[in-house]
Amino acid sequence: MEQLLRNFFLFLSKNRFFTKLAKRYGLRFGAGRFVAGETIPNAVDTIKKLNDQGMSVTIDHLGEFIDSEDEAREAADGCIEAIKAISEHHLDSQLSLKLTSMGLDISEQLVMDNMRRILDVAEKEDVFVTIDMEDHARCEKTLDIFRKLRSEYEHIGTVLQSYLYRTVDDINALNEYNPNLRLVKGAYKESPKVAFPDKKDVDDNYKEIIKIHLLNGNYTAVATHDDEMIEYTKRLVEQHGISKDQFEFQMLYGIRVERQEELVEEGYKMRVYVPYGNDWYGYFMRRLAERPANVAFVLKGVFGK
Ligand code: FDA
Repeated sequence: MEQLLRNFFLFLSKNRFFTKLAKRYGLRFGAGRFVAGETIPNAVDTIKKLNDQGMSVTIDHLGEFIDSEDEAREAADGCIEAIKAISEHHLDSQLSLKLTSMGLDISEQLVMDNMRRILDVAEKEDVFVTIDMEDHARCEKTLDIFRKLRSEYEHIGTVLQSYLYRTVDDINALNEYNPNLRLVKGAYKESPKVAFPDKKDVDDNYKEIIKIHLLNGNYTAVATHDDEMIEYTKRLVEQHGISKDQFEFQMLYGIRVERQEELVEEGYKMRVYVPYGNDWYGYFMRRLAERPANVAFVLKGVFGK
């Protein structure tokens, strides 16, 4: 049943019609639990509160399924506006973005132009930018673009997903760039041809890539809500004398908030991924797919508390 619901929400997450409709009607159905609001001032308030609690942030200007060059440029403008707000309000925040919202499905030139515009401002304002990883079909292109940008800019990182068979090879191949990587299990529906179908294998591979990247001496963001992975990381860094400055934990806004606070109290770096904007639908559906128990929030959103 859980697998059925998961597939259902992942299917919904790709629906362009609902994506467009959701943009028009604003945050609904309990999405506000996972999305900080629709505007930069909403996001700034949320970041300030998290910073006051000792947490860093990465802010994500939500956006998917861009159809035109103009929409992609607007999305890039939104990212630049966010970087300027981070700098102006002296916030402890990075920026995350998706290459599809920069025009990845339109042309590489468009993405490169948009990314260079963003990264020029990011370097000037000293704000780090992470390229989120999307579905497997876009992984190779995303890594290509990351490599090109990483040769030009310092303030850029990306994400690798442990559910993909290719990821150990990718992490080894990227080592020459000493990249700052966020490691995740992966949030998209993928074929068993490219991704481990069994959770146990995804988890084992997750531990493997954490180990490889940390022992290679690279900065590692362990982005998970899974206590087993968190405890594994703590043991690993202890065993190998790895400093708390070489890694951080990351969690999504609104998920396992108490655990986030505990990690801060234990002296670990904790970064919260804070999405904002009116393109909330796909993000929200992927969160429901991860944990169908969250559907209870949707029902409350629809039928009142
Ligand atoms: P998993 O879903 O395997 O759950 C393991 C355990 O964690 C559960 O049994 C439970 O104990 C606990 N848990 C999980 N969710 C919980 C909840 N909601 N409430 C309470 N307990 C919970 N994906 C991607 O493909 N590309 C990307 O760029 C990113 N970026 C990203 C950034 C950040 C900061 C995070 C945290 C995650 C991502 N992801 C992502 C999503 C990621 O791939 C993955 O889908 C989710 O993090 C869920 O997997 P977990 O590792 O959290 O645990």
